[in-house]
Amino acid sequence: MDMFVVRGGRPLAGRVRVSGAKNAALPLLAATILSDGVSVLHDVPDLVDVRSMERLLASLGVSVERNDSGTTQVGVVDEAPCIADYELVRRMRASICVLGPLVARRGRAVVSLPGGCNIGTRPIDLHLAGLRALGAEVETRNGYVVARADRLVGARVDLAGPNGTTVTGTANVLCAATLAEGRTTITSAAREPEIVDLGRFLVGLGARVEGLGTSELTVDGVERLGGTEHVLVPDRIEAATLMIAAAITRGRVELDNVELEHLGSVVEVLRSTGVVVRESDDAIVVDGTGTLRAVDCVARPFPGVPTDVQAQLTALLATVPGQAVVRDDVFPERFMHAAELLRLGADVRAGTGSVTVRGVSRLTGANVMASDLRASAALVLAGLAAEGETTVRRIYHLDRGYEGLEVKLRALGADVERVVDVPAAVPGELVPGERRQAG
Ligand code: UD1
Repeated sequence: MDMFVVRGGRPLAGRVRVSGAKNAALPLLAATILSDGVSVLHDVPDLVDVRSMERLLASLGVSVERNDSGTTQVGVVDEAPCIADYELVRRMRASICVLGPLVARRGRAVVSLPGGCNIGTRPIDLHLAGLRALGAEVETRNGYVVARADRLVGARVDLAGPNGTTVTGTANVLCAATLAEGRTTITSAAREPEIVDLGRFLVGLGARVEGLGTSELTVDGVERLGGTEHVLVPDRIEAATLMIAAAITRGRVELDNVELEHLGSVVEVLRSTGVVVRESDDAIVVDGTGTLRAVDCVARPFPGVPTDVQAQLTALLATVPGQAVVRDDVFPERFMHAAELLRLGADVRAGTGSVTVRGVSRLTGANVMASDLRASAALVLAGLAAEGETTVRRIYHLDRGYEGLEVKLRALGADVERVVDVPAAVPGELVPGERRQAG
């Protein structure tokens, strides 16, 4: 297992390129199950989650060939498989994105339930209700979702849940509706840019989708879908993370391949803290060298502040004078990073669905443990701001969603090293590879 060793205190400076979006790549790759043509995807990030999706697709008869520059050719070679096995699904929740495409195209899907994770319980009831509304018979048995349909039939589907809409649920129902008979209207649909990107890809395959970017999607089913060529949208979460890296180190960086309109609410929060964000000719400039102040923020579905940026903003606010409340209305339990930030000297108090952060004049390096993808990023950012050395363990979480984060941070002047984590043996504790005998 790898860990990061971060020696903090250096203001970041320089220019890096943001990769293609993970959260677009995953549903788009899954959607290729719907088509009987070959598609070419550009700017597919090289991530553990993308590799997991590629492996899952290979098990489902989809050929995926990637070259070094992130261009990936995808096409179905065998339509018989319809079982997404537990061993492949458990590695990544977004594996559930194969459910809608499988049942729509192959008439049957047996997909392992993804289970909970460190950011909450994460049910899929809305995905299942949506597919049932389209006429699929859906049951859960032995830890698997089993869905069947001769041909799905268009219907009205509402995707509102207790915490807003569902992003991958929208992807599943949208994909399924493209091959359903007649018209489907999806209300309370996710408006996230990655869903818009998926919709554009489906239109490229020959689907008839309207309303992308709004909360009401209209899909007129077609008989078949072909192939297309598509460039993935830039990763707005990676972009936001790098923007916050500039701010937390009081540095100034330029970012290539950013869609600023996908980051409106993040830019608004950053500007309210005093960070300068502006467009230059072909890049975004983020300047955190001025005096910063605290500001409250709330994570909500798009166009709100993304829950995937909440932890990184919390880290930034921990270094800014004043008190701020950070709330997460999408995943109200997503505050695992708070306890680790305390280890770095932050003043963070967890409440129900929110944390109160009081900025301190300096964070100090410590050993911390990553608990999930974005919490890992927050800890690395805090480490960049902290005095001395911070080790962030379990950064396999980070590798799921950031393409070479340490390489990009180093290019901006950060002192970040990836090293193999060999925990020192403590008397009475297990050493790596050792097993304790039962009984
Ligand atoms: C996607 C993103 C993830 C992001 C999240 C919220 C991908 C691959 N992942 O995850 O990075 O953090 O959106 O922006 O795109 N819910 C239900 N019932 C359901 C489904 C969800 O109640 O059937 C709830 C969830 O518990 C959560 C909220 O709805 O509180 C949003 O979850 P959802 O949008 O489904 O998250 P994902 O699509 O899994």
